[in-house]
Amino acid sequence: MITEQDIRRLFASILGRIKNEDLRAKTVRAWVLACERGGWKSVADLEAMPFTLLTNTQGISFLEHTIAVTEGAYALAKAQEAAYRKMPYPVDYDRLLAGGLLHDVGKLLEFEPDGKGGCRKSRSGSCMRHPISGTAVAYEVGLPSEVLNVIACHAKEGDGRPQVVETVLIHQADFATFDPLVMMEKGTLIR
Ligand SMILES: [Fe+2]
Repeated sequence: MITEQDIRRLFASILGRIKNEDLRAKTVRAWVLACERGGWKSVADLEAMPFTLLTNTQGISFLEHTIAVTEGAYALAKAQEAAYRKMPYPVDYDRLLAGGLLHDVGKLLEFEPDGKGGCRKSRSGSCMRHPISGTAVAYEVGLPSEVLNVIACHAKEGDGRPQVVETVLIHQADFATFDPLVMMEKGTLIR
């Protein structure tokens, strides 16, 4: 069983920057609930889980992706704050960090361990993509609507939809980590 303590340890550095204790606790709870529902039983399974089944991930795991996207979006916000004389749209860092850790939490339901050390699309995954299942899990633990917007609208489901600025930042960081891998596979990434 994957515990709250496991999740707190895996994401210690990011969780430590979430100031609101209730938000931090609910973020951890959503992860534990998604692991439970998706049948993820050990940290070792989680560590071996790829972040997508859509392209060759070159060994980048789901946990690594989650951290890279969250830190990428965080750095993008900080860079704007540092460069602009006046920031036109204030960034809520608690929302950005919680949203980053949770943006793909629905993948724990979309994929399942295949029993051979790999993973495959689950029945839930055939019925809905991770932005939908992730939003459902986050709603269940009582996360605020703005964090639900990050989860629900970070991918193509959110194209053209109203978004909080933290969703925009997570979306960009997400695709900055995904597109180069797709391009590598297609042979369009110049190296
Ligand atoms: Fe992602």
